[in-house]
Amino acid sequence: MTWLRTLRQLRRQGRRWPIPFLALVTEHRRRAGRSDFAGCEGTRDLQLASDERSIRLARMILPRSTVLEFGLGMGKLGAHLPPSCEYREYDLVSRSSGTLVVDLNSRPLPSIEQVDFAVLGGVLEYVIDVPSLVSHLHNVCDRIVASYVPAKSGRLWDSVKRRGKGWVNDYTTDELCATFLRSGFLIVQTEEWQGQTLFSFKKQHVRQVEVSDRVDHGRD
Ligand SMILES: C[S@@+](CC[C@H](N)C(=O)[O-])C[C@H]1O[C@@H](n2cnc3c(N)ncnc32)[C@H](O)[C@@H]1O
Repeated sequence: MTWLRTLRQLRRQGRRWPIPFLALVTEHRRRAGRSDFAGCEGTRDLQLASDERSIRLARMILPRSTVLEFGLGMGKLGAHLPPSCEYREYDLVSRSSGTLVVDLNSRPLPSIEQVDFAVLGGVLEYVIDVPSLVSHLHNVCDRIVASYVPAKSGRLWDSVKRRGKGWVNDYTTDELCATFLRSGFLIVQTEEWQGQTLFSFKKQHVRQVEVSDRVDHGRD
């Protein structure tokens, strides 16, 4: 493909790829259902990121909880959890001897041990099928603490810029909350931080989809 050759040439010259090209590559990968293994291997950007988001997410977690973090990056959350918590880490790539490697874009998702809290800080943006991940987590945890940079509804350039960052979905805050609700998680707390929304969701024992199934059957 000519555009792939052009991109390789730019990379060889040490130049950054223009956003529309980066967006094309991400979109290509998204359609193929593949995660960005190469993009996740480096740690430079992760080291530069501030601890602030992890500190805020850690505050949403109750003491004495079992906590499972997906996409831990540099593992900053673990350092800010109440000391009485038990913490386990999953990531697309191995980040330490304790990391369990999981690809949130592979299907079927692996069976995961039950915990009180699942944490997704800066990770949902990289998940191709968010509804099926959240449905899977319904069998795993009672609470989900997550961050997300909401998309600007119906803006093509916003989507292109998101793909340029390697992000593979475009939910507004309302759409994301509705997705969690359909999979059985009710929002209990939100916080705005630097253009991101931080969420705490709580598991409902009856999922919205099950409720609508029952209503439909009632009509039969
Ligand atoms: C932006 S970093 C966030 C790191 C950390 N959670 C934080 O809040 O600073 C995104 C993390 O998600 C991981 N990740 C990206 N795609 C993933 C996937 N498909 N499955 C599992 N982890 C993934 C990356 O390896 C990286 O550690």
